[in-house]
Amino acid sequence: MENKVFTSPKKKGRIAVLLSGRGSNFMAIHDAILAGKINAEIVLVFSNKKDARGLQIAKERGLETLFLDPKDFPSREEYDKRIVEELKKRDVDLVCLAGYMRILTPYFVNQYRNRIMNIHPALLPSFPGLHAQKQALDYGVKFSGATVHFVTEEVDAGPIIIQAVVPVFQYDTEETLSARILEQEHKIYPEAIKLFFEGKLEVRGRKVYIRE
Ligand code: GRF
Repeated sequence: MENKVFTSPKKKGRIAVLLSGRGSNFMAIHDAILAGKINAEIVLVFSNKKDARGLQIAKERGLETLFLDPKDFPSREEYDKRIVEELKKRDVDLVCLAGYMRILTPYFVNQYRNRIMNIHPALLPSFPGLHAQKQALDYGVKFSGATVHFVTEEVDAGPIIIQAVVPVFQYDTEETLSARILEQEHKIYPEAIKLFFEGKLEVRGRKVYIRE
């Protein structure tokens, strides 16, 4: 499995976005699609949170949305099985996690190996997990940034597709640093998806090559 080379498909892609919150990355992706920069369409915006702002925005933008309450399922795996069913029904090629605050089960990851992306607000492998911007500030690093990566079973540890670097200033707060990073997130996430559907991403082990 690990030795196999994966090449992303060159095609008009079918994307599902999974989110739990405000949805600014979702909007950046959708805007890039509407501007003709990404050869894809968003066929589903899914949330585990009924009141997620991003879900509301997706509805306003005329996209199909779906909310499933985790409380209605006996286990995390059963929940993820149902999501995968919904994704398969819609022939999804790429799952984009955009502020989706649940860890995917190995079942989910296996069904969409090399076809799930996530955006993390730090330069991985530094500061994985929650509150990455605060972790970076507390540590005292002089640079941080954002990372788009493929999702594997291990949280925030999959092959890195694109990173962007931002400076950390000494009087930064969590808010000012987060805003500086977010601006970069909105650039690199659409860029990674664009490359994916241009058939340009090649995954070898834990390295991602961008083909010319
Ligand atoms: C972003 O900072 C992203 O890096 C992290 O969650 C946040 C989501 O923000 N994974 P938004 O919902 O896309 O505005």
